[in-house]
Amino acid sequence: MILDPQEISPETKIEIDRRFLHGKAMIKQAGETALDYFNRRDELIIETKTDPQDVVSIADKNVEEIIRNLTRDIFPGDGYLGEEHGQESGSNDYLWVIDPIDGTACFLTGMRSWCISIALMKGGKIAAGFVYDPNTDELFTALAGQGAQLNGKTIQTYDIKSVTEGVMGIGTSHRIPPSELLPFLDKLLSAGGMFIRNGSCALMMSYVAAGRLIGYFEPHINSWDCLAGIILITEAGGWSSPFLDQDGLNKGNPILATASGVAQNLRQMANLT
Ligand code: IPD
Ligand code: CA
Ligand code: CA
Repeated sequence: MILDPQEISPETKIEIDRRFLHGKAMIKQAGETALDYFNRRDELIIETKTDPQDVVSIADKNVEEIIRNLTRDIFPGDGYLGEEHGQESGSNDYLWVIDPIDGTACFLTGMRSWCISIALMKGGKIAAGFVYDPNTDELFTALAGQGAQLNGKTIQTYDIKSVTEGVMGIGTSHRIPPSELLPFLDKLLSAGGMFIRNGSCALMMSYVAAGRLIGYFEPHINSWDCLAGIILITEAGGWSSPFLDQDGLNKGNPILATASGVAQNLRQMANLT
């Protein structure tokens, strides 16, 4: 699922490094626009998708467009998959997977738990991940084989052995029935664990990478929500379920990504063994 740096040529490494540098600067630029929209959110017209809880505004659409335009100028052959503007094939095998605002419900109601999430894929594998929180100016980045960083400093997942030692991030949506989540919560709480849902999958997964949360579970998630989080957590020493299996890129899948010391226990609770 994560690109193996041993399997790429020096030329490909240079190409990925160029995109990593671009991604770090570009996501911050997009973040400025997103924060500007957030500060003027009373002016935004809110639309709903199929589920009334699934909201969107011009902010989501324009931020995704900015990300694509900034990238297209420098890497004209790259492809895109984004929550708001769908798939755009490129002429090479680089793919940018974009969630322009993850945590839109929070964004539109004035809560600050939202972020921008971008993953770079090369040949179907995750090569780099970027999550930017403009409210705190926190930039979480990971490059395959090079570890994970928060604002340039190395981060690592929680060093724990038991779910009682920390808090788990949880997500859910009306894409799946409640019965897909509730047994997990029952088992976690019965084992003395605890959970939080802040409304942004990508932000909670970044917190797992930074050792703030012990893991993240959501019974169904889309690729733009979690691919950056997956490389962040694995590069920070954690474990992730094989999200990309069975066309997870286009259809989504469950995600469980955790600190290594509690992975086995949480996999049993989530029935992802
Ligand atoms: C949602 C958030 C939420 C998760 C949902 C996602 P959006 O994304 O990540 O935490 O539980 O499954 O759809 O709609 O805010 O971009
Ligand atoms: Ca999202
Ligand atoms: Ca979104």
